[in-house]
Amino acid sequence: MPTALQTAPIEQLAERFARVVESAARVAIADRGAFSIAVSGGSAAERLLPRLVRAAVDWRRVDVLWVDERAVPPDAEDSNYRVARSVWIDRVPLPVDRVHRMRGEEPDLEAAAAAYAAVVKAVAGDPPRIDLVLLGVGPDGHVASLFPGHRLLRVWDRPAAWLDDAPKPPPRRLTLTLPVLTGARRVVVFAAGATKADVIRESLGDGESELPLALATMGDAQVTYLLDPDAASKLA
Ligand code: 6PG
Repeated sequence: MPTALQTAPIEQLAERFARVVESAARVAIADRGAFSIAVSGGSAAERLLPRLVRAAVDWRRVDVLWVDERAVPPDAEDSNYRVARSVWIDRVPLPVDRVHRMRGEEPDLEAAAAAYAAVVKAVAGDPPRIDLVLLGVGPDGHVASLFPGHRLLRVWDRPAAWLDDAPKPPPRRLTLTLPVLTGARRVVVFAAGATKADVIRESLGDGESELPLALATMGDAQVTYLLDPDAASKLA
């Protein structure tokens, strides 16, 4: 898998992210008439997505998916959908029917995961091939809501799943699974802060790593790491 790495202050990383999205969207729309992007929550959403408001993208042909969602209503403070909407989606001409949120408010998360699996297949094919996936990283190396050693890392038969034992609150969540992340055409990994330095070093330097970040980036996608100087501080 070809890997690119940029270490810079977060403002510059946001610029680079916008360039990557612009070029991936241009290629996807020219080749297939549409561009699919799946986004994380947390600092990746807060720091990178606002820059997309000024990006040169034909938003009418873009499908937005989420890599994970907390089991909260869509207007809750910690809803990943709410954050993406407020900093980006509400500010660009994205058609409402192309914004595919995970229904974290559903009491039956198994049904919500099955419904989202169908959405992912309808948008990105079966098996799904999302054009660009934006992954944040936890200090433990989790991506999406796939946590180290968790049973969901062994789920390869469906694109979306649910859990009620996430170590990062809230415990109830929906997430895309590894086959979807590894099947993406392009992956952007964003990490900022010294708490991420160890897992960045392990994922990039240890071919045997079983961290979710390492597993999610082992497909044939083009992977771009966007790291602030603290997150990159333990790279050789
Ligand atoms: C979530 C995220 C999650 C996030 C990481 C990193 O909803 O919790 O999608 O996977 O990207 O936990 O979060 P930070 O970048 O805020 O540390």
